[in-house]
Amino acid sequence: MLQVQAPTDLRPGKNGQYRTLMAILGGALALLILITIPLTFPLLNYSLLLLKASLESPTSAASSAFRPQIFASGNLSIFSALPCDLAVGEWIPNSNPNAAPPYTNDTCWAIHEHLNCLKYGRPDHGFLQWRWRPDGCELPAFNPAQFLELMRHKAFAFVGDNIARNHVQSLICLLSKVEYPIDVSPSRDEHFKKWKYMSYNFTMAFLWTTHLVKSQESSTKGVFDLYLDEFDEAWTSQIPGFDYVMISSGQWFLHPLYFHENGRVIGCHDCFLDNVTELGIYHGYRKAFRTAFKAILTSESFKGITYLRTFAPAHFENGLWNQGGNCLRTEPLKSKDSALEGMNLELYMTQMEEFRRAEREGRKKGIKFRLLDTTQPMWLRPDGHPSQYGHWPQGNDSSLLNDCVHWCLPGPIDIWSDFLLHMVKLEGIRSAQERALLAHQTELNQR
Ligand SMILES: *[C@@H]1O[C@H](CO)[C@@H](O)[C@H](O)[C@H]1NC(C)=O
Ligand SMILES: *[C@@H]1O[C@H](CO)[C@@H](O)[C@H](O)[C@H]1NC(C)=O
Ligand SMILES: *[C@@H]1O[C@H](CO)[C@@H](O)[C@H](O)[C@H]1NC(C)=O
Ligand SMILES: *[C@@H]1O[C@H](CO)[C@@H](O)[C@H](O)[C@H]1NC(C)=O
Ligand SMILES: *[C@@H]1O[C@H](CO)[C@@H](O)[C@H](O)[C@H]1NC(C)=O
Repeated sequence: MLQVQAPTDLRPGKNGQYRTLMAILGGALALLILITIPLTFPLLNYSLLLLKASLESPTSAASSAFRPQIFASGNLSIFSALPCDLAVGEWIPNSNPNAAPPYTNDTCWAIHEHLNCLKYGRPDHGFLQWRWRPDGCELPAFNPAQFLELMRHKAFAFVGDNIARNHVQSLICLLSKVEYPIDVSPSRDEHFKKWKYMSYNFTMAFLWTTHLVKSQESSTKGVFDLYLDEFDEAWTSQIPGFDYVMISSGQWFLHPLYFHENGRVIGCHDCFLDNVTELGIYHGYRKAFRTAFKAILTSESFKGITYLRTFAPAHFENGLWNQGGNCLRTEPLKSKDSALEGMNLELYMTQMEEFRRAEREGRKKGIKFRLLDTTQPMWLRPDGHPSQYGHWPQGNDSSLLNDCVHWCLPGPIDIWSDFLLHMVKLEGIRSAQERALLAHQTELNQR
C-alpha cells in the first residue's frame, strides 16, 4: 500500500537567514566534532589517506581497507583534518550526458509501480543525468560488488515508511548488476520483507513503521494515535539479529495525531478539539525519535551500527498536495538559490538534535550512531518525484494525486546508496584503525 501525504506547502524559497543559521550551526557542529572525534578516532587524518587510496582503486578497497599491512607505511601522527561533509555540495551534470542510468524498468524488477516513472511515460529523462558532488571531495558512483563484499555475512535492516522502501528498491536495483536476492520473508506481509544475497550470505530486511513508535489509526479515519513512549515492537523486537539498522521517518507526522504518553492523551497535532492541547508536529517527531533511539540504546542484544537517514522533503508547488500541487521541474536547484526552510528545516533540526543526543548516549555505551545526511541533496531535487508518472493517465480521476513525495526509480534517491557505501567503507577504515592503534600500542608496550 503506497501512501501519498504531504499536506503542507513546500515551495522552495530564497532565504538568507537559513544560510546564516546553518553557517553558525555548521561551525558549532564542526567544533563539536573536532572536540569529540579525536577521542574516538585518533587517526582521522590517517583515515583520509586510506580513504583516498580506497577511493582511487574501488575494486580493491573493500579488502585493502582491512588489510593490516597498509598501516606499515602510514602517518600515525595526526589530529588535523576532517572527512568532507557529503551533505554539502551541488548537483552537477554527468560528464557523459548520454550515460545510461545504472538500471532501468527493463533491467530491474524491484521497482514499485508507483515509482516506475520511465514505464509510465515521463517524457524528460534529463533528471537522470546529474551526479552529486560534495564540496571538497568526489563521491564515487555506487560499486555493487564492493558493497556486497563489505556486507558479506552481515544483516542490514531498513526501518521506516514508504520512503525507506523506496530506498530499499533503489538499492536492490543498484545491486542487481551483481546479484538479485532471494525472498526469504517470514510471511506474505509486504510490510516486513527479508531477502538474502546467497553468494554473499548477506541478509537485507525492510521493517515497516509509520511513526517509529507504537501507533494505530484512531476511530477517526486519517487520525493516528501515537504512543510516544512505547516502542513499535514490530521492528524493535527484530533488530537484535542485525549488524546495521537504518531508521528514518517523515511524512506520516503531518497527519492529524493524538499524542499518548504515560498511558493518556497529553495533546495532539491538528485535532481541533477543545479538550486536547495542540502540541504541533515537532513534539511528536522529537519524542518518536527519542523513543526509537532508546529502543536501540537499551536493546540487550543489538550491538550493530545505527544510521539515521535524515528527512526527505516533498516538493509540491502551486498548491497543496490535495489541491492540485505538483512538481513539474526538470532540473535540480542550485544550493545558492534554495535553502531548506520552514517545516522542512524544523523537522530536520529536530531529528538532528535527537540524533546527537542518542549519539552522545551511545558513545558512553559503545553503541555507534551514524548520520546519512541526505536532506539537503534531496531538497535540491524537486525534479526527482513521479508527479503524474506513477501510473497511467486516468482522465480526470481526482483521487490520483501528483506524487511529489516519493522518488522515481532510477532517480536521485540512488545516491543514498552512494552515501551508505561511502560510510560503510569509512566505518571499516575506522575499525581497522582502531585495531591498528591497539596493535601499535601493544607493540610499543612490549619494547
Ligand atoms: C605526517 O603528517 C605530518 C602532519 O600532517 C607531516 O608534517 C609529516 O610530514 C607526515 N609524515 C609522513 C611520513 O607523511
Ligand atoms: C519500461 O519503460 C518503457 C518506456 O520507457 C516501456 O516501453 C517498457 O514496456 C517498460 N518495461 C517494462 C518491463 O515495464
Ligand atoms: C552467514 O551470516 C551469518 C550472520 O549474518 C552467520 O551467523 C553465518 O555463520 C553465516 N553463514 C555462513 C555459511 O558463513
Ligand atoms: C475530549 O472530549 C471528547 C468528546 O467529549 C471525549 O470523547 C474525549 O475522551 C476527550 N478527550 C480527552 C483527552 O479528555
Ligand atoms: C478532463 O477535464 C477537462 C476540463 O475539466 C476536460 O476538458 C477533459 O475532457 C476531461 N478529460 C477526461 C478524460 O474526462
